[in-house]
Amino acid sequence: MSTPTNRRIVAGNWKMNTTPTEGAALAQGVIEQAGSPSGKVIFGVPAIQLVKIKEIVAGANGYFVAAQNMHEADKGAYTGEHSAAMLADAGVDYVILGHSERREYNGEDDSLIHEKIIKALDHGIMPIYCCGEKLDIREANNQEMVVGKQIERALSSLSEEQMSKVVIAYEPVWAIGTGKTASPQQAQDMHAFIRRMISDAFGSGVAENVSILYGGSVKPANAEELFGMADVDGGLVGGASLDAESFAAIIKA
Ligand code: PGA
Repeated sequence: MSTPTNRRIVAGNWKMNTTPTEGAALAQGVIEQAGSPSGKVIFGVPAIQLVKIKEIVAGANGYFVAAQNMHEADKGAYTGEHSAAMLADAGVDYVILGHSERREYNGEDDSLIHEKIIKALDHGIMPIYCCGEKLDIREANNQEMVVGKQIERALSSLSEEQMSKVVIAYEPVWAIGTGKTASPQQAQDMHAFIRRMISDAFGSGVAENVSILYGGSVKPANAEELFGMADVDGGLVGGASLDAESFAAIIKA
């Protein structure tokens, strides 16, 4: 494994799956099967489960909890939403921001995601910022231009100190939930491009420490090869994070 341990993260994104009862059993099953991880493991869980899963990970070294979204305002008349202060008070460690499903179904763009990133950081919550191109962009070989713009809009005005708390997840939209994975080389090329961008904007110290995760149909069968690439520091895993055995296998990859 070529990734430095300080950059290594395997995060599960449960999306709108698992009841609280199922979620607690899943988190406990993963911890039992994967044991003490190298690097960090994060469970990205439905909001209603954050408090319970936080209790579970609090007793396990290397395990953390993430929300899947957060509102950008401090508080107020936003029915159904959760603020950064609420998440922080519940002990939430990370928040997934800018996932392609939120971009697609909730119209989120990088300027809104930027606001959310700042708000999360203000409350001590570490953002997992998701970026990635759609299929037509990849087919036209414009992926670096598009992902570069996403990152510029969402991250470029952060301070070095703020950026050092951000995790980046590169998730090509055409690979999410499709069973189609980027090849290890496609992932490596994009991750190296992203790390160069971070180095240019924030300096090599920040770039060498930022965790850049790959997401999109990560499975036990492909995790080792993907995570073995020099700039792939781990994964953001959807479907395969819903089964304790397969997520544990990915953690150990
Ligand atoms: P997938 O989802 O692993 O099911 O492709 C990844 C994600 O959406 O984060």
